[in-house]
Amino acid sequence: MSDKVNLIVHPLIQHKLTLLRDKNTSSKDFRQLVSEVSMLMAYEVTRTLPLEDIQIETPICKTTGKSLSGLDVAIVPIMRAGMGMVEGMLNLIPTAKVGHIGIYRDEETIQPVEYYCKLPSDISERLVIVTDPMLATGGSLRDAITMLKKRGAVNIKAMVLVSTEYGINEVHKVHPELEIFTISIDEGLNEKSYIVPGLGDAGDRLFGTK
Ligand code: PRP
Ligand code: URA
Repeated sequence: MSDKVNLIVHPLIQHKLTLLRDKNTSSKDFRQLVSEVSMLMAYEVTRTLPLEDIQIETPICKTTGKSLSGLDVAIVPIMRAGMGMVEGMLNLIPTAKVGHIGIYRDEETIQPVEYYCKLPSDISERLVIVTDPMLATGGSLRDAITMLKKRGAVNIKAMVLVSTEYGINEVHKVHPELEIFTISIDEGLNEKSYIVPGLGDAGDRLFGTK
C-alpha cells in the first residue's frame, strides 16, 4: 500500500463501519454514524497540525502550553454525500471554514460531472480537507483535487470512508502527493461501479432519496 494511504482501523470506527454497511440501518442512524466516524477520523487527519508555545497562568502558577498556530483548516465536502461528514468534523475543528464542490457521477458513463464550486477566499493558506464517503473509480475525488489546485489550494488531504485500491490508484496517477485517509479498502467494484461490499449509494442513504 502507498505510504500516502492512511488506513484507520480503530475498533470504534470498525464497529460503526459495520453498522453503516448494514442495509437495515435507517437514514437517521446512517447520518449519525457518518458524523461520528468523521469526527473520529478528523482526529487522525489533523495529527500533524503545527503547535506553538504560549505562556499562560494556571490557578497555581505560570506555565508554557501548546496552542494550535498558523495553519487554518478548510473542510471541503464533495456534494452531496461529502456534506454528511462536515458536522462531525466541525465538532473537533469549530473554527474551520467550509467550501463546497459539486460533482456527481453520471449513471451511464460513470464519469464525474462538475456543477458547483465555492471556496473560502484564502484557500491557498489553509489545510484543505476534502470529504466524501465513497472513493469508487476515483474520478470524483481526482477531479475535485484538480479543481482545488486550479483555485490555489496547495495543502490538501482527502478523507473518505470506503475506498477501492483501483480508485486510490486512479487518484494518485494525477495527484501522487495526495494523502488519503480511509477506514476500509474494499474488495473492488461491481458492474455498475459500486463498491463491493461497500455501503450502497451513500448520498441516497444519507438523505433518504432513492
Ligand atoms: C458518489 C460519492 C462520490 C462518487 C464516488 O457521489 O459520494 O462523490 O460517487 O464515485 P467515483 O469514485 O466512481 O467517482 P454521487 O455521484 O452518487 O453523487 P451524490 O453524492 O450527489 O449522491
Ligand atoms: N457512489 C456511492 O454512493 N456508492 C458507491 O459504491 C459508489 C459510488
